[in-house]
Parts: sequence; C-alpha cells; structure tokens
Amino acid sequence: MDSYTEDQCALQEQARKFARGEILPVAAQLDEESRFPREVLAQAQRLGLMNLTLPESCGGTALSLVDCCIVLEEIAAGCAGVATSLVANDLALTPISLYGDADQQARFIGELISNGGFASFCLSEPGAGSDAAGLKTSIEKTANGYRITGEKQWITNGGEASQYTVFATHDRSQGHKGISCVVVPAESVGVSTGQHENKMGQRCSNTVSVTFDGVEVPAENLIGKEGEGFRVAMHTLDVSRPMTAIMAVGIGRAAFEHARGYALERKQFGQAIAEFQGIQFMLADMATEIDAARLLTLRSARLVDETKRSSLESSMAKRFAADMCMKVATDAVQIYGGYGYTKDYPVEKLMRDAKLLQIYEGTSQIQRLVIARELLRESR
Ligand code: CAA
Repeated sequence: MDSYTEDQCALQEQARKFARGEILPVAAQLDEESRFPREVLAQAQRLGLMNLTLPESCGGTALSLVDCCIVLEEIAAGCAGVATSLVANDLALTPISLYGDADQQARFIGELISNGGFASFCLSEPGAGSDAAGLKTSIEKTANGYRITGEKQWITNGGEASQYTVFATHDRSQGHKGISCVVVPAESVGVSTGQHENKMGQRCSNTVSVTFDGVEVPAENLIGKEGEGFRVAMHTLDVSRPMTAIMAVGIGRAAFEHARGYALERKQFGQAIAEFQGIQFMLADMATEIDAARLLTLRSARLVDETKRSSLESSMAKRFAADMCMKVATDAVQIYGGYGYTKDYPVEKLMRDAKLLQIYEGTSQIQRLVIARELLRESR
C-alpha cells in the first residue's frame, strides 16, 4: 500500500486544507489555554471530517479505516490534541457499531451524531490502566436494567460527553469473563466528572475522571451479551490502534518538515546545517521511520477493512509509530537546538504531544506484550 487513489488524494487534500486553515492557526493558543477545540470540531463535523468510521445510516462519514487514516494523519499534523478530541467518538461508538443492534445504533450513534454530541470510551480506572481486566467498576442487575458504581480515569472528552461507553464487572472473581459493556447517558442521576487534567501535551484534549454513583440504566443499554465486555473492548482497540498510530505519523511528519526547513535555513560554520552529514543522517532516519510507520499502519487498517483479526498488526503499528514519533520529535528539537526548546518554535509542542502516543490506547510495553502473545499463539 504505497500509493493513494484519486479519491484518496482528494480526501487527503481536503483534510490538509482543513488542518492548515482551521487547526494550525489556533493550535498554540488552544495548547496554552488547555482549551477544548469546540469550534474546530463543529467545523470538522460540518465538513464530514468527524465521526469518520461510523455508519452512514447513523449520520457518520463511513470511511474505510485506510481512508480514515489518510484524514487523521493530516489532522494530527495540525494538532494532535485536536485529533484526539476528534477521534474520541469513533473509539467510544465502535463497540456499538460492532456489537450493538439496529435500535442501539440508531439511539446511541444516530441521535448523538445528529445532535453534534460527544461520547467517551470508559475503560481505564485509577487502579486499572494496562491491566484493563482488573477494573473494579461494578454493574449489578436491577428489576429493569443495571446499576453502575465506580470511577473511570483518563477519559478523553469526558467533560464534554453526553454519553459514556462503560466497561464494568458483575463479579471480579470471574476476571475478564465478568465484564460487560453498557451505555450510560451523562445526564443520568449519579454521574459526575472531575477536573480537566493539566497535561504535559495534547492539552486541548479534554481528559477527566468520571464517577458513577449507583447510576441506573435500562437493560436495553447493554452492548453485546453480559460477560462479553472485555472482548468488545479488545476488539475495539484492535480497530482504534491504527487510528492512534497514524496520529503518531502525523506528529512525526510535522516535526520532520519543520526540522528539514530549519536545517536548510540555519547557518553555522559558514553554511546551512543541512550541509553537515550529522544532520543529514538524522533527517534520513526520521523520514525513513515515518514512512515505515505509515506503511505498517495502513497494513493494519486494511486488515480491519477486510474484517480480519488485526491484533498483531494493529499493535505493531501502534508500538512502532508511537516510539518513532517520540524519537523524531526529540530529534527535531535537537536540530533546532536551544530555539527548539522554547515555545517560540513549533517543535516544542510536537515533542510534548508525542509523548502521549506511547501511553494512551495501550503503552508501548503493552503493545509488545500483545505482539509477543499473538506471535506465540498456538493456533497461528
Ligand atoms: N479480540 C478479541 N478477544 C480478545 C482480544 C482481541 N483483540 N484480545 C484478548 N481477547 C480475549 C482473549 O482471547 C481472552 O479470552 P478467552 O479467555 O475466552 O480466551 C480474553 O480476551 C482475555 O485475554 P488476555 O488473557 O490476553 O487478557 P489479559 O488481561 O492478560 O491482557 C491486555 C490483555 C492485552 C494486557 C489488555 O488488558 C490491554 O490491552 N491492556 C491495555 C489497555 C488499554 O489499551 N487501555 C487503553 C484505554 S483507551 C484509551 O487510552 C483511549 C483514550 O481515551 C485516548
């Protein structure tokens, strides 16, 4: 997968124009103020650049995952925090598009999109990050549905969402087999959100804790079967990790482009620093690894589009792209020297934004664990 069709080039151009015209001019200020990019997202929604993977019948853009990646690379090159905010609906609503029935899709995806709303994926907890199956939030049966109690942590768009996709356990002693997936409207009695986290990077993306204090939901809000929730979460992450990987490619590409431009312009010892082999080798490695990450990512997205299991390839793409992005952004700052370490130049933000890619949607260490398990699975 090394060339795009005419339609894909047009989509790329549309997303690039949007990123350059609407995101880049406000990115530094959104970052400085740690402010949610509400207006940018509303504009993306109007242009069909949000809810990218969600079904057309529910008002989504229904792009293939490959096409979604083409868009997201551009958005992330503009601002990774905007990209994270923009793609959070896809993550939160994928469990419903994969496992929900037609009625649930209409209610929880269709209505949300037609209202221009936000949804959040609630898996992580204060005591359960990498060990997702160790979550404690409880779900118990009631006469008409379920009661949910517990706290979720690091919830993207959590303070803006009108709906949460929550993973909770009926019985912790059953491990992952006790987990179910349920949709909780934010307006439900007993739902509250914490303070917006003061993050190092991707500061405009809203990150909060969400508490469910005996929240009651009807039985129709259960997504999939009781006890199927962990599988739903893992399958969703297989689909969403290529999206995260391509965001890393977008950040890396932006850092490379700035570094290349600066190296051609900056003079030391009587010549542009791009003339020095030390800088050339850095640029060569940066460009090669960005390309490799993009190719790995598009391969994993294509597998998802073919509805094949992509755990191995999605984790390879996420691991490689996230680590590449951190290294490339760090090298870009290095090429800028002291200037790169200041907020006066864009690579400082790119380096801060890059770090999160190695942490959310499964750390680089968790991706290696998934990769190794997949390689060693008996049925391979
Ligand atoms: N698809 C379907 N089923 C899967 C699966 C997949 N990809 N992966 C695992 N399963 C199934 C297994 O087959 C197994 O089922 P059986 O027992 O029936 O065979 C079951 O799930 C349990 O699997 P494991 O034994 O592998 O589970 P584990 O607890 O040992 O570890 C893990 C799993 C890979 C470490 C997982 O916990 C994980 O991915 N952790 C990281 C969590 C994560 O990525 N969190 C990100 C939160 S979202 C976020 O960050 C987004 C944001 O807001 C920006």
